[in-house]
Amino acid sequence: MTKYEKVLQALKEKQELWLVTGVAGFIGSNLLETLLKHNQKVVGLDNFETGHQHNLDKVKAIVGEENWANFALIEGDIRNLDDCKKACDGVQYVLHQAALGSVPRSVVDPITTNSTNTDGFLNMLVAARDANIKQFVYAASSSTYGDHPDLPKVEDKIGNPLSPYAVTKLVNELYSKVFARTYGFKTIGLRYFNIFGYRQDPDGAYAAVIPKWVAAMLHNEEVFINGDGETSRDFCFIDNTVQANILSAMADNPDATDQVYNVAVNEQTSLNELFNSLRNELIARIPDLKIADPVYKDFRAGDVRHSLADISKAKELLGYDPEYRINEGIKLSMDWYIKDLSTT
Ligand SMILES: NC(=O)c1ccc[n+]([C@@H]2O[C@H](COP(=O)([O-])OP(=O)(O)OC[C@H]3O[C@@H](n4cnc5c(N)ncnc54)[C@H](O)[C@@H]3O)[C@@H](O)[C@H]2O)c1
Repeated sequence: MTKYEKVLQALKEKQELWLVTGVAGFIGSNLLETLLKHNQKVVGLDNFETGHQHNLDKVKAIVGEENWANFALIEGDIRNLDDCKKACDGVQYVLHQAALGSVPRSVVDPITTNSTNTDGFLNMLVAARDANIKQFVYAASSSTYGDHPDLPKVEDKIGNPLSPYAVTKLVNELYSKVFARTYGFKTIGLRYFNIFGYRQDPDGAYAAVIPKWVAAMLHNEEVFINGDGETSRDFCFIDNTVQANILSAMADNPDATDQVYNVAVNEQTSLNELFNSLRNELIARIPDLKIADPVYKDFRAGDVRHSLADISKAKELLGYDPEYRINEGIKLSMDWYIKDLSTT
C-alpha cells in the first residue's frame, strides 16, 4: 500500500470537515470529488468568478446523492473577511485554491489579481487561524521561480518574479512563513507546475494551454503557439495534484509543515511535443479529424522559458508519489475532453 492509499483508507474511517476555496474551479472541484468519495464533509467557498456551477453539477453526478449531502456551498468572496470566517467555522482542514490564475490576466489587470490573491489570501489566513484549524494547505505556484536559471527547480532557490501574478504567489508564501513564526499557525504551500485534467476550463482569453488546444483541434480552429514551441513545462495531471493536497493536509511528520513543495512530475515537455501528443491522441480516437500544423506567434510577456521541477522534497517529507506522467494523464483525460468539449 502506498502512503496515499493508506491516507485515503484512514479518511474513509474518520469523517472530518474540510474547506475547499475555489471549489467550483478546476482544481477545487477535483479536490471536492475525492474528499466526498472518501466520506469527508466539505464546505466550499466560491464567487464563481472563473469557476462554474456545471463543475459542481458534474461532481454531484459522479459521487451520488448520499455523498453529495456532505457538501455545503457558500457563495462568497475571499476579499470579504466575514465570508472567510463563515466558511472556516468548525473546519479542520483548509485547502485554499481560490485565486485569479493566469500570468497574462495579471499583466492586464494587476489590481484585481492582487486584491484577490493577496488581500483574499490574508483574509483566509486570519479566518483559518482564528478557527483553530489543523492544517492550512494553499495553492502556491511555480511562477515563484521567476528568472532563476537553474533546472530542475529546487524549492529554496527562487529568482525575481516576472509578473504581478508571480508577486502575489510569492507574497502568499511570505505571509505563511510569518503566520507560522508569529502565531504558530500550520501551513503547507504547494507550488503547482502546469496542472491539467478533467474540468479545466477551455474557454476565455486566459485558458490553460491543454484544454484550449484540445478545444481548438476539435473545433477545427487554429492552434497558436507563443514563441518557437521549444518553451517547456512540467505538466502535472490533476490526480497527482489532489494526492499532494490530501497528503499535505494529513501530514503527520512535524518537519513537513511550514514548508513549500513542488507539485509536478519531473518531466520536461516542450510545447511542440505537447502539440504532437495531443494531435496523435485525438486522431487515434477520431481518425477523420483534420488538425493543421500550429501557428507560431510572438513570445508572451511574463512567461518563463523552461520549467522543470525537482520533486524529491515532496517525495521525502510528504510521501508524494505522482502516479501519472503527462502522456498517461493525457490519455485518461482525452475521452473526457472529447465528450465535454465536443458539446461546447
Ligand atoms: N492550474 C494550474 O496549472 C495552476 C498552476 C499554478 C497555480 N495554480 C493555482 O491553483 C489554484 C486553482 O487554480 P485553478 O486552475 O483551479 O483555477 P480556476 O480558475 O479553475 O479556479 C479558481 C477558483 O477560485 C474562484 N475564485 C476566484 N476569485 C475568488 C474570490 N475572490 N472569492 C472566492 N472564490 C474565488 C473561482 O471562481 C474559481 O472557481 C489557484 O490559486 C491558482 O493560482 C494553478
